[in-house]
Amino acid sequence: MQLEHHTALITGGGSGIGRATALRFAGEGAAVAVFDRHETAARAVAGEIEAAGGRAMPLQGDVTDLVSLEGAVAATHERFGPVSVLVANAAISEGDDPLTISEETWDRTVNIVLKGVFLSAKAVLPGMIESGRGAIVTISSVNGQTGIGEEPYSAAKAGVINLTQNLATRYGPKGIRANCIAPGTVQTPIWHERVDRDPAVFERIARWYPLGRVGQPEDIASAALFLASDEAAWITGAVLNVDGGLMAGIPHFGTELTG
Ligand SMILES: NC(=O)c1ccc[n+]([C@@H]2O[C@H](COP(=O)([O-])OP(=O)(O)OC[C@H]3O[C@@H](n4cnc5c(N)ncnc54)[C@H](O)[C@@H]3O)[C@@H](O)[C@H]2O)c1
Repeated sequence: MQLEHHTALITGGGSGIGRATALRFAGEGAAVAVFDRHETAARAVAGEIEAAGGRAMPLQGDVTDLVSLEGAVAATHERFGPVSVLVANAAISEGDDPLTISEETWDRTVNIVLKGVFLSAKAVLPGMIESGRGAIVTISSVNGQTGIGEEPYSAAKAGVINLTQNLATRYGPKGIRANCIAPGTVQTPIWHERVDRDPAVFERIARWYPLGRVGQPEDIASAALFLASDEAAWITGAVLNVDGGLMAGIPHFGTELTG
């Protein structure tokens, strides 16, 4: 049980990577607060955890709203004790070419993807500082590390990396670790619309991955578990690519070079 005596708040816990992480953490003994803007999704995941004998509570709220986050942290504390782990995972993926997207699309995306992490950290930090321990795991993306389109999302994900590094240096002396996971393509509902338009998308994308497949939510949950647990006690400010090797190199460029 790697997370016994821990209470975890997982934003966007109602779907995809957040859901898999909530289930995994609960299986490792953590009490889990499943925070999501979709109440039914949060309820369903908390219900799954309880049905498996774990401890969980659903919390409806929005990561762009500090009041709802602070309320969630207080409710979690009251039920399970102080929040010792935050997984700042909630995000949307909208917008692409700056020439065609609106300012509203830019603002909405950056607000959820980047400001949402800032506000989530802001809500949990006072309690973590008071108890002298905490692990924050943020979810960025390979999009935050190189130019592969989706500009508002990608720029915000790059910001998540820097914010995590600053959380690590600023709050390390208070016993708080902050690390970032940068996933590659993971088969989750965030892709539903694109898969509807283009059913072969995963099959095509998989060819770019040295490990020959796209990721599953559980691949990311395992990394989040490691970074949240005491196994990572001396790791902070790290960016862990969990991407089947996508960012390891550009093999097609190498092929061109060698002919
Ligand atoms: N799936 C991928 O290919 C992929 C790749 C790299 C990074 N990521 C990142 O992983 C994280 C999880 O994504 P996913 O693929 O599981 O997506 P998902 O759509 O399955 O889950 C995201 C969850 O976040 C919730 N959410 C969205 N906006 C919110 C808000 N304002 N407040 C509260 N909750 C909100 C949604 O309701 C949903 O339950 C995101 O940060 C995403 O950017 C995903």
